[in-house]
Amino acid sequence: MPEKKTYYITTPIYYPSGNMHIGHTYTTVAADTMARFKKMQGYDTYFLTGTDEHGQKIERKAEEKGVTPKAYVDEIVANAKDLWKLMEVEYNDFIRTTDERHEKVVQKIFRQFYEQGDIYKGSYEGLYCTPCEAFWTPTQVVEKDGVKCCPDCGRPVEPMQEESYFFRMSKYQDWLLDYLQTHPDFIQPASRANEMINNFLKPGLQDLCVSRTSFKWGVPVDFDPKHVVYVWIDALSNYISALGYDTPDDHLFRKYWPADVHLVGKEIVRFHTIYWPIMLHALGLPLPKQVFAHGWLLFGNDKMSKSKGNVVYAQPIVARYGADALRYYLLREMPFGADGNYTNEAFLTRVNADLANDLGNLVSRTVAMIEKYFDGALPAWTDAVDKDMDLPLQQHCAQLPALVSEQMDKLQFSQALTEIWKVIGECNKYIDATQPWVLGRSEESRPRLANVLLTLAECVRYAAVLISPFMPRTPERIFAQLGIADEALKTWDSLDTFGKLPAGLKVCKGEALFPRLDIKKELEALAAEAEANAPKLPEKKAEPEKKPEKKEKEKSALPEGCVSADDFFKCQLRVAKVISCEHVKKSEKLLKFDLDLGSERRTILSGIAKFYESEQLIGKNLVIIANLPPRKMMGIESNGMILSAVEEKEDGSEYLRVLTVDGDVAPGSEVG
Ligand code: MSP
Repeated sequence: MPEKKTYYITTPIYYPSGNMHIGHTYTTVAADTMARFKKMQGYDTYFLTGTDEHGQKIERKAEEKGVTPKAYVDEIVANAKDLWKLMEVEYNDFIRTTDERHEKVVQKIFRQFYEQGDIYKGSYEGLYCTPCEAFWTPTQVVEKDGVKCCPDCGRPVEPMQEESYFFRMSKYQDWLLDYLQTHPDFIQPASRANEMINNFLKPGLQDLCVSRTSFKWGVPVDFDPKHVVYVWIDALSNYISALGYDTPDDHLFRKYWPADVHLVGKEIVRFHTIYWPIMLHALGLPLPKQVFAHGWLLFGNDKMSKSKGNVVYAQPIVARYGADALRYYLLREMPFGADGNYTNEAFLTRVNADLANDLGNLVSRTVAMIEKYFDGALPAWTDAVDKDMDLPLQQHCAQLPALVSEQMDKLQFSQALTEIWKVIGECNKYIDATQPWVLGRSEESRPRLANVLLTLAECVRYAAVLISPFMPRTPERIFAQLGIADEALKTWDSLDTFGKLPAGLKVCKGEALFPRLDIKKELEALAAEAEANAPKLPEKKAEPEKKPEKKEKEKSALPEGCVSADDFFKCQLRVAKVISCEHVKKSEKLLKFDLDLGSERRTILSGIAKFYESEQLIGKNLVIIANLPPRKMMGIESNGMILSAVEEKEDGSEYLRVLTVDGDVAPGSEVG
């Protein structure tokens, strides 16, 4: 027996700083669908996903919650695994960068790079703002009276150095440029390759900072333990550490490496197509065959982000409509590679049009007609063929596996589904054209009717087999209705010849595959459920008081994602002048503020000690929410919330600034 061809596909490993949302679900479902498709075609597939658990951001989040970083990520990883199960995602392995197997490989790789001179010890230099804990470049700082100052807080910055290890990326620049130019398929879509070449490689690669001493939550550099390995060497190595690279049991590595494709979001293409190839080349390993950059799932035309509060989670959608409907929508709605907006309305409209109408109606009409005209048993083929009507549909359907496969090889999920739905649409037209209800009126036309219904049933079988990687549950429901129990009729191989359905199969009308949805009602229900069903993580700020449920009528009048002006103005936003501010004893994160609100004094606690010195904000006019219920922290009552903006930096760290008022506005003034 010849060995099966292998196919290794990966998702990025996700940061478990918060629960996975529909954007992460999108990538994972795409990888799962591809893996299932290749498996169906007979490949020996391996599908890897996982989590990227180190870094300052996780360290901070855990500290805010009062747990260890490991305990913090354990909870989110458990939620992620539940979500993948819910989404019918069948991975072969889930790698965590905190797995011992991974950490050991990272340490070995780091050491090898160091020993062969690819990594050197240097120092990270910049203009440092001590209160902001931030490095700035000479072009970023602002000058005040000839003194270089922090662009954020306006205080003087000073030249500073932090000891770091660096990877000599520049050494491999010419090799990589040549590789990319001679392997045009390596980066897909091709436009991304040009971006990498023109924006990063041609201007010259900077050496990459690959270690840090300013935080601890990372893989220690074993020969210099005050350093932890910084981000990308740790994260990217997962693709080989999961396969047992450089361990005594490396059979998976030998079998599956190089990967066939790394699926990545467009924002991390650079790391996968510049740093990762260079790292692999330095290790003497072959490169993955392809890196495919997909677009973002946007919400309200904006990238989803917890800090923006525009996150959609899969759970409430799946609870109402099932994983298959969501998987279908994600892969059908936008071409893989482009950005697309998620809206509940577009989702529901597609479910109704494609799943309830096109597919659902075709299945139910076909089965109902076989029941009605042939007592529920599939007839045999006859020679009453109408060449003009039957053959084009039969031939088109017979070509469908090849058409779908061609699109899937380019990771064009949406196009692959479009091909399947073209045949489904043609079948529905074929019913209208052949008019089985007229053929059923006379004995004479029964042979013709037999062929019409068999053609439809066989097309439905083809469609059911071909959608199975996209929608793992639906095909079985279709097979059950068609009375197909024989596993051999459910396979990719069974699509080699059109017309395999045997006479005599007993069809069995079942429930509608996708009941038609009342979109307006569903939109209301989804809006109400989304928040309740989203997995909750403790937030660092006090939860705003739960607002009373809105009347149904009022709710439905609002566009999705909006709050009414009435609701917004229930929040009393006020200017508050800082009279004094001190650290709360035994708390690393809390600052206690004494605030002047004009007619009253207020105490508010805020978890921002990491970002400000206690005296730094005295005299400033901040913006607070004044009508939150009192909340006790460390035995002190806090009466309100200080508003701040948090930036998530590329390296996973956070940068926080409080909201201030531009000018001397009287304390207590309303904000709105
Ligand atoms: N940990 C790194 C990746 C390391 S891979 C060696 C990381 N993690 S992440 O959690 O921030 O994002 C990972 C991936 O999630 C993105 O590249 C993308 O694939 C996916 N997405 C996150 N938000 C998304 C959308 N809104 N839309 C589509 N994909 C999104 O980067």
